[in-house]
Amino acid sequence: MLINRVRKNHKHRKKWAKREGVSCFRLYDRDIPELPFIIDTYEGRLHASVFVHDEMDIQEAQELTLEWLKEVAKSLSLDPEQTVLKVRARQSGKQQYKKRSSQAQRLEVNEAGLRFWVNLHDYLDTGLFLDHRQTRERVSEEARDKRFLNLFAYTGSFTVHAAAGGASETVTVDSTQGYLQWAQDNLELNQFAGLQHRFERADVRTFLEDEAQAIRQGVRPRYDLVVLDPPTFSNSKGAHPPFDVRRHHAELFDGVYQVTKRGAVLYFSNNAQRFSLHPDLEKRWEITEITEETVPLDFQQKRPHRCWRCLRR
Ligand SMILES: C[S@@+](CC[C@H](N)C(=O)[O-])C[C@H]1O[C@@H](n2cnc3c(N)ncnc32)[C@H](O)[C@@H]1O
Repeated sequence: MLINRVRKNHKHRKKWAKREGVSCFRLYDRDIPELPFIIDTYEGRLHASVFVHDEMDIQEAQELTLEWLKEVAKSLSLDPEQTVLKVRARQSGKQQYKKRSSQAQRLEVNEAGLRFWVNLHDYLDTGLFLDHRQTRERVSEEARDKRFLNLFAYTGSFTVHAAAGGASETVTVDSTQGYLQWAQDNLELNQFAGLQHRFERADVRTFLEDEAQAIRQGVRPRYDLVVLDPPTFSNSKGAHPPFDVRRHHAELFDGVYQVTKRGAVLYFSNNAQRFSLHPDLEKRWEITEITEETVPLDFQQKRPHRCWRCLRR
């Protein structure tokens, strides 16, 4: 059943991917409820996750799933030994971004003619969130001559697209030094370097306060284009109190308001299961939900994120 389903998806999506120039895409997302996996392909290698619950024997589930996935790889004429499987258990935000191993095997992949480092082994996530492929293209299309700010930037994939789209300056903010370095490596991989690309290791709320002050003092100009893609929950070092997107997003919008120009565009996205925008935000922002346009074809089985385009009044 699994092989049939994945082969069917692959046949359909391979044609679409070729047409769109996409080389990393989702093949299976819990399509069969009894088989709770996610399977992606990164340029011909399978990267999968299995969801386990408390009563399961994790090691047994992992071994069995890996055997099945190797059969899936063979059925797609891919090298089964290149298959990577992660286990996703119920966890706090902190564990999700924790390093799991140190194989440091980086793989260079392509997206829209740009190059990105991914790591299929060492973390739960690979360094490139494929569900935001189209959002990144939108940012690229809007970036010409803009001062661009990437908040909760992770490996800086939005920054690479903004730079490629002709942003005059970029600022990439994340609280984890390793991810900031990865972001810098991604920019360099695409020949973007220089003082116009700034990297800030900081808690986003602290960064926004400091930046607003610098702007008020005339030390820095305002931003024109912002991406705000926070985790649902984070208790990373330096974040007090722990960040919860449902409770704290309005505060972030206010912070972004302080550092942007009138007419600036903010792309806001999150992955929370149940989420509603704070009603007061409409006073300062003209907000349009664009989730239908940002979720790509290979992610339509389960909605991975919601996304809004917000115009600063
Ligand atoms: C959901 S990812 C963001 C996805 C990213 N925008 C992308 O498109 O690839 C979470 C990132 O937020 C960072 N982070 C979590 N809490 C933070 C905080 N309070 N301030 C700054 N960065 C934080 C983590 O280090 C991680 O890199």
